[in-house]
Amino acid sequence: MYSKEHPFRRLVIASYRLPFKFTRTTSGFKAVQNSGGLVSAVLSLSERMRSDQEAGMTEKIVWTGIADNIPVDVAPAEWENDRFDLEPVRLNRKLNDQFYGGFSNDLIWPLFHYFSTYCIFNPAYFEAYREANALFCEQIVSRYRPGDYIWVHDYHLMLLPQMIRERIPEAPIGFFLHIPFPSFEVFRLLPRIWREAIVQGMLGADLVGFHTHDYTQHFIKCVKRATGFECHQNVLFTADRIVKADAFPIGIDYHKFHDATSLHEVVAARAKIVHALGGQKLVFSVDRLDYTKGLLLRLQGFEAFLEEHAEWHTRVTFNMVVVPSRANIEKYKKMKKEIESTVGRINGKYSTLSWRPVIYQYKSLPFAELVALYNASDVALITPLRDGMNLVAKEYVACQTEQKGVLILSEMAGAAAEMNEALIINPADHHEVACAIATALEMSPVEKEARILRMQERLAHCNVFTWASGFFSQTYEIIGRQKQLSVRLVNREITSRMVQSYQAASHRILFLDYDGTLVSLVRRPELATIQKNTLDLIRRLSADPCNRVVIISGRDKDFLQQQFQDAPVTLVAEHGYFVKHPDKDWIRTVRADESWKESVRQILAEYVNRCAGTFIEEKSGSLAWHYRNTELDFAQLRLHELQDDLSELIRHNSDLEILEGHKVVEIKSRRYNKRVAAATLMGNRNFDFVLAAGDDKTDEFLFQAMPAEAFTIRVGFCPSVARFNVPNPAMLLKLLRSLN
Ligand code: UDP
Ligand code: G6P
Repeated sequence: MYSKEHPFRRLVIASYRLPFKFTRTTSGFKAVQNSGGLVSAVLSLSERMRSDQEAGMTEKIVWTGIADNIPVDVAPAEWENDRFDLEPVRLNRKLNDQFYGGFSNDLIWPLFHYFSTYCIFNPAYFEAYREANALFCEQIVSRYRPGDYIWVHDYHLMLLPQMIRERIPEAPIGFFLHIPFPSFEVFRLLPRIWREAIVQGMLGADLVGFHTHDYTQHFIKCVKRATGFECHQNVLFTADRIVKADAFPIGIDYHKFHDATSLHEVVAARAKIVHALGGQKLVFSVDRLDYTKGLLLRLQGFEAFLEEHAEWHTRVTFNMVVVPSRANIEKYKKMKKEIESTVGRINGKYSTLSWRPVIYQYKSLPFAELVALYNASDVALITPLRDGMNLVAKEYVACQTEQKGVLILSEMAGAAAEMNEALIINPADHHEVACAIATALEMSPVEKEARILRMQERLAHCNVFTWASGFFSQTYEIIGRQKQLSVRLVNREITSRMVQSYQAASHRILFLDYDGTLVSLVRRPELATIQKNTLDLIRRLSADPCNRVVIISGRDKDFLQQQFQDAPVTLVAEHGYFVKHPDKDWIRTVRADESWKESVRQILAEYVNRCAGTFIEEKSGSLAWHYRNTELDFAQLRLHELQDDLSELIRHNSDLEILEGHKVVEIKSRRYNKRVAAATLMGNRNFDFVLAAGDDKTDEFLFQAMPAEAFTIRVGFCPSVARFNVPNPAMLLKLLRSLN
């Protein structure tokens, strides 16, 4: 299962928590599983991968996490086993408090779960976060071996992928976020430097995974806003690589839970529960103590049920298990008190001598007891206010061997996207929760069975193994695409081929686009003036009598002339509308009717008003609408509308076309473009060295005009008809410098 698609020899996991905590016993140490969905899922996965006979891995899984309770005096042999090599990262107490308690749990956790008023913004926390991520990086880098796959997990380690990438550029790295990724409106509450560091950090991975499509889209939008990188079909084009972001809804080890219901200790635990219930129905919930889990609202929803459905008094018990979590954090301490007083209040109000409506337990449950409770309860009440996925919901369904339980699930849990046979509720609506409990208790066996079976089928299929396997194969798929791109990347060998060919030639022509090719793109086009050393380079190249240098741009003629004043180059302005040979005047290449301009100007002016930050550029032969200084998604929506509005006009004027460029759209005559201009300049002369470089969609026309043996170079990582890519203008200039 693993070997075919995942060519790694060793899996290296990095997460804040290791899978176990260790408690001292008289005979040594006892390992107890840490709580939470991340540990549950990754542990199940690692157990199976290690024992899987087909696994291509020849090594134990390495799991790097913090050594919160591995005493320093304990030798590694005491905690290692045949499945893992645990690699503890040791953080001093202050650093851990500021990194884990501070930045991770007093800022990122509440912010990403939309509890923004709970956030504490403290610069010292960010520094600690960076420092702790760097310590994880050291540990991983020092143990890295070629053939490893590094899988970084969750919000504590969002800077880590990039840190590792800088040290080991070739390492396959995956990043998975186990909590929601919020919308940009919430994400932008982070100071600019922090949010840029976070997205850049995550983009160090080859693949960035989320539980749902919505979280993925939020991330992509935040990347675009924070960095300006473009994205096509979930592939982000960063400054020097491509990275994929996608949804991988995490599953459970379905059979582990389903089959456990027949284990001896589970059957015994279940019998005890049934006996204690004495015929009452059981409503059950289990979560870590966390404000995101909606525990207080859940109690209030149950209270509303008791209020509205007196017929169920004495016939139903709600067992709410709350697993201790983050007990040192103030908000969690406060919540615990509130829960306890609410439970007390409800029990005080409704209890009788022989009936207590709410049984509250503050503890963690051993596996057998958990499965027994899942299996014995009639209703699971899972009502988080916000939850990345929620594995408890899936585990509950897996344990319904007699298909007689009903799942009530919050629409705010990631799991709701996959489990629509549950009774989906809004956790803040007490009445809706109350109605759902009554509906669940009264549901017919046939309906319960139908709902559970459908969910079980899906959970058995989309399990934690298919989750991981999908994640690994997507990583290697994107790495494959990176490699395809990198063979096109101009490297030392391609450079030396180009230099040789250049030196052997005596009739050369070089076509160079301007913006994004000779100068970097900036927010305001008038600021993109040429650097002195770039101009010197152009002068040197064009001074060679064997060379003809052509600057071929969409810019207007005055701007180009100003930039290249005394350089003996041919200038092509406005995509070929004007041409100027050295020491000659400008020639207008096309005589076209321009009466269309007035109506187009009016339409564009309307779009400037409807999309703040955009502007019109008026050229001799065309009109352009620039949207580089505005929110991209919004501008793209307007762009589609604009294209619709213009299409009518274009239908009536067959000479017109819409030309799309980098954050600009231009309306012009179709009789000229860079292809026509370049072909005219080359004529039927025999150049023995041809080079064309450009960064934009409009340069694809230029490349099309080039002979097959020409050195065509697209600046940036976009797919192109050009033969080669360079990552940025600086690399192109370096290449041009090496020519002479
Ligand atoms: N769980 C646990 N200890 C317990 C009870 C439950 O570790 O005492 C497990 C439970 O089986 C589930 C996980 O904790 O796998 C909770 O994951 P979920 O996604 O529901 O929430 P999270 O805690 O990750 O927010
Ligand atoms: C969630 C997070 C995990 C975390 C777990 C338990 O599942 O996504 O990263 O480990 O909660 O929280 P804790 O703070 O105790 O590790």
